[in-house]
Amino acid sequence: MNKIKAKITKKTSLISEVEERLNAQVKMEGVSSQFYLAAASWCEREGYENAANFLYTHSEEERMHMLKLIKYINASGGYALAPEISGLKYEFDTLRKVFDEVLEHEIKVTNSINDIVDFSFKVKDYATFQFLQWYVAEQREEEELARRVIEIFDIIGEEGQGLWFIDQEIGKLGHGEEGGAIEAPEGE
Ligand SMILES: [Fe+2]
Ligand SMILES: [Fe+2]
Repeated sequence: MNKIKAKITKKTSLISEVEERLNAQVKMEGVSSQFYLAAASWCEREGYENAANFLYTHSEEERMHMLKLIKYINASGGYALAPEISGLKYEFDTLRKVFDEVLEHEIKVTNSINDIVDFSFKVKDYATFQFLQWYVAEQREEEELARRVIEIFDIIGEEGQGLWFIDQEIGKLGHGEEGGAIEAPEGE
Protein backbone atom coordinates (compact mmCIF):
# COMPACT_ATOMS: atom_id res chain seq x y z
CA MET A 1 0.00 0.00 0.00
CA ASN A 2 2.84 2.41 0.77
CA LYS A 3 4.66 2.14 -2.49
CA ILE A 4 2.78 3.86 -5.22
CA LYS A 5 3.88 2.34 -8.48
CA ALA A 6 2.88 4.33 -11.50
CA LYS A 7 2.19 2.09 -14.45
CA ILE A 8 1.69 4.52 -17.28
CA THR A 9 1.32 2.96 -20.67
CA LYS A 10 0.58 4.48 -24.07
CA LYS A 11 -3.01 3.54 -23.57
CA THR A 12 -3.77 4.98 -20.18
CA SER A 13 -2.80 7.36 -17.44
CA LEU A 14 -4.70 5.26 -14.92
CA ILE A 15 -2.26 4.25 -12.23
CA SER A 16 -2.42 0.55 -11.46
CA GLU A 17 -3.04 1.07 -7.78
CA VAL A 18 -5.98 3.35 -8.55
CA GLU A 19 -7.26 0.69 -10.92
CA GLU A 20 -6.94 -1.95 -8.20
CA ARG A 21 -8.78 0.19 -5.71
CA LEU A 22 -11.53 0.93 -8.20
CA ASN A 23 -11.85 -2.79 -8.89
CA ALA A 24 -12.10 -3.41 -5.14
CA GLN A 25 -14.93 -0.88 -5.12
CA VAL A 26 -16.59 -2.71 -8.02
CA LYS A 27 -16.61 -5.76 -5.79
CA MET A 28 -17.96 -3.80 -2.84
CA GLU A 29 -20.87 -2.50 -4.93
CA GLY A 30 -21.48 -6.04 -6.18
CA VAL A 31 -21.49 -7.32 -2.61
CA SER A 32 -23.91 -4.52 -1.69
CA SER A 33 -26.23 -5.49 -4.51
CA GLN A 34 -26.24 -9.16 -3.50
CA PHE A 35 -26.56 -8.35 0.19
CA TYR A 36 -29.67 -6.24 -0.50
CA LEU A 37 -31.05 -8.92 -2.78
CA ALA A 38 -30.66 -11.57 -0.07
CA ALA A 39 -32.17 -9.24 2.52
CA ALA A 40 -35.07 -8.39 0.17
CA SER A 41 -35.86 -12.06 -0.31
CA TRP A 42 -35.75 -12.65 3.45
CA CYS A 43 -38.19 -9.75 3.99
CA GLU A 44 -40.49 -11.11 1.31
CA ARG A 45 -40.50 -14.57 2.88
CA GLU A 46 -41.27 -13.03 6.27
CA GLY A 47 -44.15 -11.03 4.81
CA TYR A 48 -42.61 -7.55 4.92
CA GLU A 49 -43.65 -6.67 1.43
CA ASN A 50 -42.69 -3.00 1.40
CA ALA A 51 -39.33 -3.56 3.04
CA ALA A 52 -38.72 -6.25 0.42
CA ASN A 53 -39.54 -3.87 -2.44
CA PHE A 54 -37.37 -1.19 -0.90
CA LEU A 55 -34.44 -3.59 -0.78
CA TYR A 56 -35.04 -5.05 -4.25
CA THR A 57 -34.91 -1.51 -5.64
CA HIS A 58 -31.81 -0.78 -3.61
CA SER A 59 -30.16 -3.92 -4.92
CA GLU A 60 -30.74 -2.71 -8.49
CA GLU A 61 -29.28 0.64 -7.61
CA GLU A 62 -26.12 -0.95 -6.21
CA ARG A 63 -25.74 -2.89 -9.42
CA MET A 64 -25.92 0.40 -11.28
CA HIS A 65 -23.17 1.77 -9.01
CA MET A 66 -21.06 -1.25 -9.92
CA LEU A 67 -21.66 -0.84 -13.66
CA LYS A 68 -20.82 2.84 -13.55
CA LEU A 69 -17.44 1.97 -12.01
CA ILE A 70 -16.82 -0.84 -14.50
CA LYS A 71 -17.46 1.51 -17.41
CA TYR A 72 -15.22 4.19 -15.93
CA ILE A 73 -12.32 1.78 -15.39
CA ASN A 74 -12.53 0.44 -18.93
CA ALA A 75 -13.03 3.88 -20.48
CA SER A 76 -9.89 5.02 -18.65
CA GLY A 77 -7.85 2.24 -20.21
CA GLY A 78 -7.96 -0.10 -17.25
CA TYR A 79 -9.64 -3.47 -17.04
CA ALA A 80 -12.70 -3.89 -14.85
CA LEU A 81 -13.19 -7.31 -13.29
CA ALA A 82 -16.61 -8.79 -12.64
CA PRO A 83 -16.46 -9.70 -8.96
CA GLU A 84 -16.80 -13.12 -7.39
CA ILE A 85 -19.15 -12.91 -4.46
CA SER A 86 -19.48 -15.44 -1.68
CA GLY A 87 -20.35 -15.61 1.99
CA LEU A 88 -23.79 -14.06 1.68
CA LYS A 89 -26.06 -13.94 4.68
CA TYR A 90 -29.49 -15.50 4.26
CA GLU A 91 -30.98 -15.35 7.73
CA PHE A 92 -31.69 -12.31 9.88
CA ASP A 93 -33.02 -12.20 13.43
CA THR A 94 -35.47 -9.37 12.97
CA LEU A 95 -36.53 -6.73 10.44
CA ARG A 96 -34.79 -4.13 12.57
CA LYS A 97 -31.55 -6.13 12.38
CA VAL A 98 -31.76 -6.07 8.58
CA PHE A 99 -31.84 -2.28 8.55
CA ASP A 100 -29.21 -1.95 11.28
CA GLU A 101 -26.97 -3.94 8.96
CA VAL A 102 -27.96 -1.79 5.98
CA LEU A 103 -26.85 1.36 7.80
CA GLU A 104 -23.65 -0.29 9.01
CA HIS A 105 -22.92 -1.46 5.48
CA GLU A 106 -23.51 1.96 3.94
CA ILE A 107 -21.14 3.56 6.44
CA LYS A 108 -18.50 1.00 5.45
CA VAL A 109 -19.04 1.86 1.78
CA THR A 110 -18.76 5.58 2.52
CA ASN A 111 -15.43 5.01 4.26
CA SER A 112 -14.21 2.97 1.34
CA ILE A 113 -15.19 5.68 -1.17
CA ASN A 114 -13.51 8.31 1.00
CA ASP A 115 -10.30 6.27 1.03
CA ILE A 116 -10.20 6.08 -2.77
CA VAL A 117 -11.04 9.77 -3.11
CA ASP A 118 -8.19 10.53 -0.72
CA PHE A 119 -5.80 8.24 -2.60
CA SER A 120 -6.70 9.56 -6.05
CA PHE A 121 -6.04 13.10 -4.86
CA LYS A 122 -2.67 12.11 -3.40
CA VAL A 123 -1.52 10.57 -6.67
CA LYS A 124 -2.97 13.50 -8.64
CA ASP A 125 -5.48 11.38 -10.51
CA TYR A 126 -7.93 14.25 -10.71
CA ALA A 127 -10.14 12.52 -13.27
CA THR A 128 -10.85 9.69 -10.81
CA PHE A 129 -11.12 12.21 -8.01
CA GLN A 130 -13.81 14.05 -9.96
CA PHE A 131 -15.56 10.86 -11.07
CA LEU A 132 -15.84 9.74 -7.44
CA GLN A 133 -17.60 12.91 -6.33
CA TRP A 134 -20.82 11.37 -7.63
CA TYR A 135 -20.31 8.48 -5.18
CA VAL A 136 -19.56 10.88 -2.35
CA ALA A 137 -22.94 12.57 -2.87
CA GLU A 138 -24.70 9.24 -3.36
CA GLN A 139 -23.31 7.83 -0.11
CA ARG A 140 -24.45 10.88 1.82
CA GLU A 141 -28.00 10.31 0.48
CA GLU A 142 -27.95 6.58 1.13
CA GLU A 143 -26.73 6.93 4.67
CA GLU A 144 -29.39 9.52 5.34
CA LEU A 145 -32.06 7.21 3.95
CA ALA A 146 -30.83 4.25 6.02
CA ARG A 147 -30.91 6.41 9.15
CA ARG A 148 -34.45 7.48 8.30
CA VAL A 149 -35.55 3.84 8.24
CA ILE A 150 -34.00 3.26 11.67
CA GLU A 151 -35.89 6.32 12.94
CA ILE A 152 -39.15 4.73 11.78
CA PHE A 153 -38.43 1.74 14.04
CA ASP A 154 -37.63 4.05 16.95
CA ILE A 155 -40.72 6.22 16.50
CA ILE A 156 -43.33 3.50 15.88
CA GLY A 157 -41.91 0.73 18.06
CA GLU A 158 -41.99 -2.94 17.18
CA GLU A 159 -44.64 -4.14 19.63
CA GLY A 160 -48.12 -5.27 18.63
CA GLN A 161 -48.93 -4.10 15.12
CA GLY A 162 -45.85 -1.90 15.10
CA LEU A 163 -43.99 -3.98 12.55
CA TRP A 164 -46.91 -3.79 10.16
CA PHE A 165 -46.94 0.01 10.40
CA ILE A 166 -43.16 0.15 10.09
CA ASP A 167 -43.38 -1.85 6.87
CA GLN A 168 -46.03 0.58 5.56
CA GLU A 169 -43.81 3.56 6.32
CA ILE A 170 -40.79 1.94 4.66
CA GLY A 171 -43.02 1.53 1.59
CA LYS A 172 -43.62 5.27 1.51
CA LEU A 173 -39.88 5.94 1.63
CA GLY A 174 -39.38 3.61 -1.31
CA HIS A 175 -41.57 5.74 -3.54
CA GLY A 176 -40.09 8.74 -1.84
CA GLU A 177 -40.92 12.31 -2.68
CA GLU A 178 -37.55 13.38 -1.44
CA GLY A 179 -36.26 9.94 -0.54
CA GLY A 180 -34.53 10.06 -3.91
CA ALA A 181 -31.62 7.86 -2.93
CA ILE A 182 -33.31 4.65 -3.94
CA GLU A 183 -35.26 5.83 -6.92
CA ALA A 184 -34.53 4.12 -10.20
CA PRO A 185 -31.52 5.69 -11.87
CA GLU A 186 -32.37 8.15 -14.60
CA GLY A 187 -30.72 7.72 -17.94
CA GLU A 188 -27.79 5.79 -16.59
FE1 LIG B 1 -23.40 1.81 -3.77
FE1 LIG C 1 -25.42 1.86 -1.08
